[in-house]
Amino acid sequence: MSKVPIYLQIVHSIREKIYSGEWTIGSKLPTQREMAEQFQVNRSTVITAIEILKAEGLLESKYGSGIYVVNNQWSILTATSQPNWNDISKWALHPPSDKSVQIINELETRKDIIQLSKGELGSELFPRSEIALATEKVSGKLHDFGYGDGAGDIDLRKEISKRLGKIGISTSASGILIVSGALQGIQLISQGVLKTGSTVFIESPSYLYSIYLFRSAGMKLKDISVKNNGFNIEELAKQKILKNNSVIYLNPTYHNPTSTLMPLKERNQLIKLCRYFHLPIIEDDIYRDLWIDEPAPPPLKALDTQGQVLYVGSFSKTVAAGLRIGWVVGPEVVIKRLSDLRMQIDYGSSYFSQAVVKELLASGLYDRHLAKVREGLKERRDFMLNLLDYHLSEYATWIKPKGGFFIWVTLNKNVNIRKLFKQSLNSGVLINPGFIYNDNKPSIRLSFSFPGFNEMEKGVLIIKNLLKNM
Ligand SMILES: Cc1ncc(COP(=O)(O)O)c(C=O)c1O
Repeated sequence: MSKVPIYLQIVHSIREKIYSGEWTIGSKLPTQREMAEQFQVNRSTVITAIEILKAEGLLESKYGSGIYVVNNQWSILTATSQPNWNDISKWALHPPSDKSVQIINELETRKDIIQLSKGELGSELFPRSEIALATEKVSGKLHDFGYGDGAGDIDLRKEISKRLGKIGISTSASGILIVSGALQGIQLISQGVLKTGSTVFIESPSYLYSIYLFRSAGMKLKDISVKNNGFNIEELAKQKILKNNSVIYLNPTYHNPTSTLMPLKERNQLIKLCRYFHLPIIEDDIYRDLWIDEPAPPPLKALDTQGQVLYVGSFSKTVAAGLRIGWVVGPEVVIKRLSDLRMQIDYGSSYFSQAVVKELLASGLYDRHLAKVREGLKERRDFMLNLLDYHLSEYATWIKPKGGFFIWVTLNKNVNIRKLFKQSLNSGVLINPGFIYNDNKPSIRLSFSFPGFNEMEKGVLIIKNLLKNM
């Protein structure tokens, strides 16, 4: 036990963060309540520590806004000013995420919060033993490995090519680029293939980070609504489409966040329309292997005879997001361009992750695991649907998802979703509000892949009680 009184320990800890530059001038301190929780003391102890640091000139309160760092040792000693890192977002290429997204990202790793938000496999579905087996095998076969050629490990590309053949995509390994997650694939495409200033027709609602990526690459976004059958083709047909200056980005299979599935007829219609308009398509298909009731219709890429579709996939949802392995399929000239670009950016994906994924695929462990995951997802989806029927049918509507991780819940009346998000969080439940996906209806996305059964039940009950009083 330290002999230093606890309030002084807090003073030292905050001073250290300021002196080391971790909290720069202009940084806002956590709230007194958060600090009291973090240091496991009552608020008056935190207040005493803050008063000392204010007297030293390091902190200042801004009325109604919180406590800020206003000085550091460096600036006190040298009277020169440090770069104002807090202004970065004013000039940086990438704008900051929505504040709620930042909160969700921070809280998604907390074990004491019920995670109805998280789009990953929960611990009961996670392929722990399969990854352990594959890793053991890989570690016995390791040879020298350094930077690759940017396109990715050839054996992994061959395995992916075999799998894609089974869903109707005919491509050799040279038409495949390994990327560090689908998100990087989309980033490479937007920076390396699309013309700055192009129009990206994008589903609304849509996967939130694709929105940020296209925006920061200088694209204009044009929303296309999502119906029960997914991307609204009639709406697209009415748009002014400029040749060589427009592209579609869509997630037609178990769409994030709505889980809608585009039927085969609509897929064919879309391909026909895009052929007519010379409109390239970026197909984000990362949930395809997670079908629950029956396999999904073939990807748009399988219906594409003209090399019009750039196809993006990933092992983040089926194996582990932390491996950071995904892929892009496209015409060889595009794949070469993207491989070159990715050498400029990061010299390629982790060799070790690639080797583990290759082993999972080649050994059949991946398929064995998928069969278990589908059963698990079915059980969880049905459980969550029962809970919703029982507790929320008075307040909301939803559609049964045929695959993927999510149930998209649209609330009946004009519930204030920001308020619901905050109040749920205060009650220990994290949900994803629809507005982070660019949706302006009162909607929330609930995940059934991550939380345990008890957590789903507790979480839905908490939401019900909040809705009752709204
Ligand atoms: C539709 C969609 N695309 C891409 C990603 C990112 O995938 P990855 O982890 O492979 O980068 C996600 C993750 O949630 C997603 O939902």
